[in-house]
Order: sequence, then C-alpha cells, then structure tokens
Amino acid sequence: VLELMTTIAAARKFVAAARQQGKSIGLVPTMGYLHEGHLTLARTAREQNDVVMMSIFVNPTQFGPGEDLERYPRDLERDRKLAAGAGVDAIFAPAVAEMYPPGYATYVQVEGLTEVLCGASRPGHFRGVATVVSKLFNIVQPDRAYFGLKDYQQAVVIKRLVRDLNFPVDIITVPTVREPDGLAMSSRNKYLDPDQRRSALALYRALNLGAELIRSGERRAAVVREAMAGEILARPGTRVDYVAVNDAETLAPLEEIKGRVLLALAVWVGNTRLIDNLTLEVK
Ligand code: PAJ
Repeated sequence: VLELMTTIAAARKFVAAARQQGKSIGLVPTMGYLHEGHLTLARTAREQNDVVMMSIFVNPTQFGPGEDLERYPRDLERDRKLAAGAGVDAIFAPAVAEMYPPGYATYVQVEGLTEVLCGASRPGHFRGVATVVSKLFNIVQPDRAYFGLKDYQQAVVIKRLVRDLNFPVDIITVPTVREPDGLAMSSRNKYLDPDQRRSALALYRALNLGAELIRSGERRAAVVREAMAGEILARPGTRVDYVAVNDAETLAPLEEIKGRVLLALAVWVGNTRLIDNLTLEVK
C-alpha cells in the first residue's frame, strides 16, 4: 500500500532506504487532482524504475497575483487511490510552509526560454516552476523525472535547468493525453461548464487546422497564426491569450515555417485559461 509523506525528512528517509537497496528512483512531479495525463507519467515511471515517487504540491510561487492558486482543485484522498492504481509507491505532499518556511529567499531563473509564450503571459511563472522542481530534485534525487508535453515550454525549461545546473537526473517527456474528442486533459478542465467545455474544443481544432495548412504547403507563420486565431474566436466565450508558431527547440517565433515547429496556444474560455500545443517536422 502506498506511503504518504508530508515532510522533507520523511521523503529523504524513504528515498535513502530505496537507494541503499540499489533501487532506481523515478519522480513524477504534479500539483494533484490527478487525471489520465498524470497517470500516464506514473505508469511510464513504473515501467522504467524500481521505485516511483509522485509529488503533489500546489506550488504557490508559480501562480501570479489574481491567478487560481486558492481555487485550484485539490483532493488528496482521490489522488492517493488513483496514484496507487498507476503503480506509485510513495506520495510526497508537503505543506507550503515545509517547502517555503519563513525567511525563504532563493529562486531559480532560466533566462531566455521563459520570456516567450506562457512566460510572457505569466511573469514569474517559470521562476516558480524551476525553483520548486530544483527543490524536488534535491529532496528526492531521482534517477529519472517525468514531464508531460502538454506543458511543452515547461519541459523545455526543465531540460535546460537540468543541463545548466548539472542535476544528475534524466528528464523523460511523455506525449499529451487527450479526451476522446481531442481536448487535452488538464486539472483546470474541471472549471468548465458544459458550454465552455464545447468551446474548449477550439484549441485542438485550431492546432489541427494550423498543422493541415502547413502540410498543404503554407510556410508563412502569420497566415497560419491568423487561421488558428479565427478558429478560436468562432467559438462563444473564448479569448486568445496567444497563438504561436515557433521554433520547437529555441521557442523563438518564426516568420517562415521550417524545421521542427511548435504550434502553441493559450486561450481563455470564460475565466479559465487553457493551453495546448502540437509539434511537427517541416522539410
Ligand atoms: P501539473 O499541471 O499537475 O502537471 C504535472 C505533470 O503532468 C506535468 O509534467 C504536466 O506536463 C503533465 N500533464 C498534465 N496534463 C497532461 C496531459 N494531458 N498529458 C500528458 N501530461 C500531462 O505541471 C505542473 O503540474 C507543475 O508545473 C509542476 C511541474 C508539478 C511544478 O509545480
């Protein structure tokens, strides 16, 4: 049965015991309210490691003022059952004061990559993500850590963080898990009422429209962006935060489409901000 730890000392002790026995450790960082996306990361970790630890922590430093930190969905009992079913051995679910005690003053900033896309819309977001992930890596010292491509920019930022600060961990990325109709799974989908849930399909539709245009020969990024934005705005109650056609490695915006391309979107559906993306190779 699955172990639940709330202190850093207990997590370290659990990991030390596993390592003592020569076991490899996989870490799945999450903010909880688990869905199939998270569970796919956990199952992948289960296949590749002797011990799987999942962290569940709604990290306040990655939320901006006025964002959904307080109302972010939480249900640890439900998460515990779902995680156990996916083969997780232990959950690390610290309180905020355990991770950020009074006097906390140290932050990790990945430059450049965090200034575009979600980094431009959510100043300080990736500083919070890089900080908490660095702390988790230092607490757990996993052999491998698992991140979803649903948050494409986050995965790129974490890979750079690991490279730049020499964290001895392999970053494994996992494809986006979608609902049957194409909506990317997200804990925030819970906020959507039935009308908004229908409008939310616009993200996946717009990405596919963009990919279709590129496959049929369009190479002007501006034309693709316009078409994608049009698809979004055709749905009631939507507002575009950004529509991007960027280089999938550097994340820099493209004018002419070539190489490995990232189509990425952030869209407000009512008061809920949703993101999605797709990458494709253009010859
Ligand atoms: P959270 O949004 O809970 O996501 C945890 C992990 O699950 C991330 O790596 C995310 O990319 C992945 N994930 C979410 N939805 C997914 C989907 N539909 N398909 C595949 N993977 C999906 O991302 C965070 O938490 C936080 O920023 C965190 C990394 C835990 C740092 O606080």
